[in-house]
Amino acid sequence: MKVLVIGPGGREHALVRSLLNDPNVSEVHAAPGNAGIAAIAPTHQVNAGDPAAVTALAVQLGSDLVVIGPEAPLAAGVADAVREAGIPVFGPSREAAKLEASKAFAKTVMAEAQVPTAMAKVAVNAEEAAAALDDFGAPHVVKDDGLAAGKGVVVTNDRAEALAHAEACFAVGGTVVIEEFLDGPEVSLFVLADGRTVVPLEPAQDFKRIYDGDEGPNTGGMGAYSPLEWVPAGLVQEVIDRVAQPTIDAMAHRGTPFTGVLYCGLALTSRGTRVIEFNARFGDPETQAVLARLETPLGGVLMAAAKGQLADMEPLRWSPETAVAVVLASGNYPDTPRTGDRIRGLKKANALDGVHVLHAGTGTNSDGHTVSAGGRVLAVVGRADGLDAARERAYAGMERISLDGGQYRKDIAAKAARGEITVADAATQA
Ligand code: AMP
Ligand code: GLY
Repeated sequence: MKVLVIGPGGREHALVRSLLNDPNVSEVHAAPGNAGIAAIAPTHQVNAGDPAAVTALAVQLGSDLVVIGPEAPLAAGVADAVREAGIPVFGPSREAAKLEASKAFAKTVMAEAQVPTAMAKVAVNAEEAAAALDDFGAPHVVKDDGLAAGKGVVVTNDRAEALAHAEACFAVGGTVVIEEFLDGPEVSLFVLADGRTVVPLEPAQDFKRIYDGDEGPNTGGMGAYSPLEWVPAGLVQEVIDRVAQPTIDAMAHRGTPFTGVLYCGLALTSRGTRVIEFNARFGDPETQAVLARLETPLGGVLMAAAKGQLADMEPLRWSPETAVAVVLASGNYPDTPRTGDRIRGLKKANALDGVHVLHAGTGTNSDGHTVSAGGRVLAVVGRADGLDAARERAYAGMERISLDGGQYRKDIAAKAARGEITVADAATQA
């Protein structure tokens, strides 16, 4: 099987790495990829958001399966165009990807499917925003109603800051969704869907804020780990029954079936499990941790989803090891990140036992050196028995790597390793 992976980031490096480990996959191509992907697979320059260009590349390469990583090509209809050309695609249509591309649409589908989520109001101007903020009270949650790569959300106790974010969105012609605040720990659950049948992967946890102790602005994600020892037994089944299957059924009923991965961002609150958001793709960096543990060959799994054959698949097999992914970000991220800095120590990190480095925003300079080329530069993944050992490996790898101005969190999975994450009793009664 020949597979083409679309996207430039760490998630795509993880996908390519796992696909290359599938004995039934003969070739993996990536577009546009990054320096790390280019070291293990042929890469192609393509505008990933251009449906015709991606389709032409897939046809030219004789791809049997196209896997679309990021949200933007999905929202641009790339999956529709490739599917139209008769090539199986892992990734939802433009209409189905609205579950991520529009938070207001996602709320509508959740209401139809009776999926438990935060109460929310759409606001189109400052008066409506102010009224909604006062209705729900602090802490305030204000979300840009469009694709913002996880950075369009402001959670704050400061009403003026919340209102200012809403006004910034209105100023560029946008709308916002204002929500009640959800307390409790967050879980990312990826659920594969083939339009009808759903198959969950193992849960992971992501770290959204830039600084240790969950301080500072939201980012695309600064680290992740899996599995989660602390989640209540039955959580995954509950999310399938109350969230994923009803949502996939509602999308099919609307005539816009969802094929790909429904990323359920959940809060285990004192009032039960609630959906924070849906994404229409694998999460980054959770994928780097989750795929490090998946033992079932990935190509067959993604192909089964693309072809509507998940019901026939054997149960997924998982390594009993724990995986921890720690992200190295550029200086000044998540503002305009500095780029073009040399990255050193990659070979040394990769040489450590149970450690591998997955590139995200990297490139090659004119001297042939690997340099930073984006906000999130790479992730170091540590695999071992148990969280303490996996953390040690990930951080040992990170310490081998240097990048001027680079920043990473020192506390990825630390609270879980100390056994300090508590889940309210109600959290499994959605
Ligand atoms: P989103 O882009 O919707 O995933 O939001 C990004 C992050 O903001 C989430 O991972 C949460 O940490 C936080 N967040 C979003 N919505 C809420 C909410 N209703 N209550 C509390 N935190 C939230
Ligand atoms: N890790 C968060 C995301 O992929 O949106």
